[in-house]
Amino acid sequence: MFLFIPVLVIVGISFVDGINNITCISTPGQKNTSTILTNLRREMRNAGIGIYVVFSDDEHGSEYTQPYDKRRDWITGFRGSSGIAIISLRTAALWTDSRYFSQAEEELDCANWLLMRHGNENVPSPFIWLVTEAQQTAWSLGTTTVFTSSAWWSLANTALQAIGKQLQPVDDLVGRIWPSNERPKASQKPIVKHDIKYAGQSVTQKLLRTTTELQRFDATVTIISALDEIAWQFNLRGADIPYNPFFKSYAIIYTNYIIHQPKLFVNLAQINRTMYPVGVRVFNYSTFWSHLNETVNNSTIEKILVSAQASQAILNLIPYDKLILPLFNSPIERIKAQKNSIERKGMRDCQIRDAVARMKHIGWIEQQLNNNIPINETQSVDRLLYYQKQQVRFKFPSFHAISASGDRAALVHYSSQPATARPITKNQIYLLDAGSQYLDCTTDITRTHHFGIPKDLEKRAYTRVLQGVLAIADAVFPTGTYGRSLDYLGRMYLYRDGMTFGHGIGHGIGHFLSVHEGPHRIGSEYNEYEEPLTDGVFISDEPGFYKPGDFGIRIENDVEVVLAHKSIYDKRQFLRFDTITFVPYERSLIDVTLLTNTQLDAINKYHAKVAQILEPLLKDDEAALNALRSRTKKIHSQSVTTTTELSNKAFISISSPSLITFVFIFYYA
Ligand SMILES: *[C@@H]1O[C@H](CO)[C@@H](O)[C@H](O)[C@H]1NC(C)=O
Ligand SMILES: *[C@@H]1O[C@H](CO)[C@@H](O)[C@H](O)[C@H]1NC(C)=O
Ligand SMILES: *[C@@H]1O[C@H](CO)[C@@H](O)[C@H](O)[C@H]1NC(C)=O
Ligand SMILES: *[C@@H]1O[C@H](CO)[C@@H](O)[C@H](O)[C@H]1NC(C)=O
Ligand SMILES: *[C@@H]1O[C@H](CO)[C@@H](O)[C@H](O)[C@H]1NC(C)=O
Ligand SMILES: *[C@@H]1O[C@H](CO)[C@@H](O)[C@H](O)[C@H]1NC(C)=O
Ligand SMILES: *[C@@H]1O[C@H](CO)[C@@H](O)[C@H](O)[C@H]1NC(C)=O
Ligand SMILES: *[C@@H]1O[C@H](CO)[C@@H](O)[C@H](O)[C@H]1NC(C)=O
Repeated sequence: MFLFIPVLVIVGISFVDGINNITCISTPGQKNTSTILTNLRREMRNAGIGIYVVFSDDEHGSEYTQPYDKRRDWITGFRGSSGIAIISLRTAALWTDSRYFSQAEEELDCANWLLMRHGNENVPSPFIWLVTEAQQTAWSLGTTTVFTSSAWWSLANTALQAIGKQLQPVDDLVGRIWPSNERPKASQKPIVKHDIKYAGQSVTQKLLRTTTELQRFDATVTIISALDEIAWQFNLRGADIPYNPFFKSYAIIYTNYIIHQPKLFVNLAQINRTMYPVGVRVFNYSTFWSHLNETVNNSTIEKILVSAQASQAILNLIPYDKLILPLFNSPIERIKAQKNSIERKGMRDCQIRDAVARMKHIGWIEQQLNNNIPINETQSVDRLLYYQKQQVRFKFPSFHAISASGDRAALVHYSSQPATARPITKNQIYLLDAGSQYLDCTTDITRTHHFGIPKDLEKRAYTRVLQGVLAIADAVFPTGTYGRSLDYLGRMYLYRDGMTFGHGIGHGIGHFLSVHEGPHRIGSEYNEYEEPLTDGVFISDEPGFYKPGDFGIRIENDVEVVLAHKSIYDKRQFLRFDTITFVPYERSLIDVTLLTNTQLDAINKYHAKVAQILEPLLKDDEAALNALRSRTKKIHSQSVTTTTELSNKAFISISSPSLITFVFIFYYA
């Protein structure tokens, strides 16, 4: 699953006085937020502010949040994962991007809220609107800094400078008015040790790696607030956040960690003493702020390293002259992305288990269709989970699977629901983007299927996407190369047919952590926090093509960055990818006439390997074996059922208003 989301921040501010497209029709199904807004405005006045911004984030900038933290959902009715709410004393508005327009039209309380379709022409950005609203009132404006990213805070303040205003930090006003009988309980799931047989390195070994990085920056201490970094550093896992084995926590790590042991802050009710990592002082989560206050003020602490993703609340406490600037990635993010040998082995091994589940699932779908038993999108996901649960060390899905039939496959961020699930049939595309959390890895695999006879255009698009997957997989590049330099490879075959797509090609993948992790990616846009690809990094390879109202294609393999040769000219180390996903491509969707011999050869070799690995593991499942064999049979270049060769000129015009800029969620979340 791609993680690229449209930027909800626009850096250049221009005061366009355009027509706001804020049409949103009030319907009886929408939540009535009148009372909530009345209460919230009362709290705003009490806090001395006239404008308040509410984000969808928790204190840790998490990609997924637990129900307890869905403040923005509760005050607006809108449940999409991306959106910012701004409430003034006279009005209220919600910004979301094109992935969520229709969901917002359905769920947002349109009687009380304006729907700002971010990216549409004449729709002001949150910053422009903030400035315009702030000009109308003498009140000041504020956000709750624990939920505000430092990037958002400084961009907003830059915009507000023009009118001589500034954001004020305020308490969590939504938390104050959310009745405890309406608010979901905060997760209290136990925190458990992540066994070294999966983690590969002890907490002490990891501390040595982290503090070696801290020394490079001349830092005395670092403050860690990202939940995946803490889980990795201390070899602990939890279950506070959906799809992620994380627990709410902070950490303070001193460079001199032998003398000044690291401090870990977790809810003590969630952890047994036997789980405490050796050489680490464990404190209650709520005491983090006073410890931070003490630490940053201590005269022996000279330089403090904080990641650019930390909340503004953390930055506000740190004396400016102690802060290491410019803010950059956390050192743990970089170290963690470069997996150790045990983690690497886990990442490869569990792909085979996930592939077994996927083949059993495909076999099942084919069996149902052949027996005319109707199946739908959500039922399909349930069945996949049934097969995944049979695999050893499986824990839970790594994200909400995208299971999309027919034209729904063109909705990049589609989320099927039982009540509206589409049937999967023999005459339509079926796209399945799903991933797993195993104790020894995280996976993310997309296959686009067709169980009957596809249209020529579907085959053509599928083949172009596949050529992109192969071109990325085949890349060889010197150390120091950024993923953005490879992005074109994944698109160049699509371009020949005038096809494009609006998301990045790859995101980093964690090890029994987040399915999306930095600081690596493959995407064309410049991102100041991107770091060059290195040996041991795992990343997705997932080009796509989407024809709205018709069909969508995406193929996603996970790949491992490995060492290639050393240059004989300048001794430079070269890198390449190893594809670690072993699920066959959809033979019926491959248009052989478009392929070069080299590409055909690569597909045949891949399929031979897939068959060799999976056949013995599927021997007691005939449907799965059939599905495997029919897909992995050698493809001959002459055995082509002729398709009309279309001109190489652009012949599809996608009139999409939403060809949007994408950015990594963890940089702006
Ligand atoms: C407003 O946005 C909706 C949905 O994106 C669109 O259908 C409508 O045409 C737009 N109206 C104007 C006036 O731009
Ligand atoms: C929403 O709730 C308020 C307060 O209870 C009420 O006055 C108002 O009529 C309701 N609005 C709708 C559309 O039902
Ligand atoms: C701590 O251990 C006890 C006994 O093994 C167990 O009953 C309890 O659930 C554990 N608590 C947590 C938070 O793991
Ligand atoms: C930890 O902090 C929470 C919240 O402040 C509090 O309810 C709890 O009693 C504390 N636990 C301990 C063991 O101090
Ligand atoms: C930090 O310490 C200062 C001075 O003692 C105090 O005013 C402030 O409230 C403290 N902040 C936190 C978050 O504990
Ligand atoms: C931190 O240092 C500043 C400046 O010396 C002082 O004003 C503040 O009270 C101190 N805070 C704490 C918690 O000691
Ligand atoms: C400051 O830090 C040093 C070493 O980290 C510690 O020994 C000392 O007690 C701290 N001082 C205060 C006032 O916390
Ligand atoms: C999809 O299948 C599930 C499971 O059988 C069922 O509960 C649901 O009602 C179906 N959805 C539709 C729209 O038929």
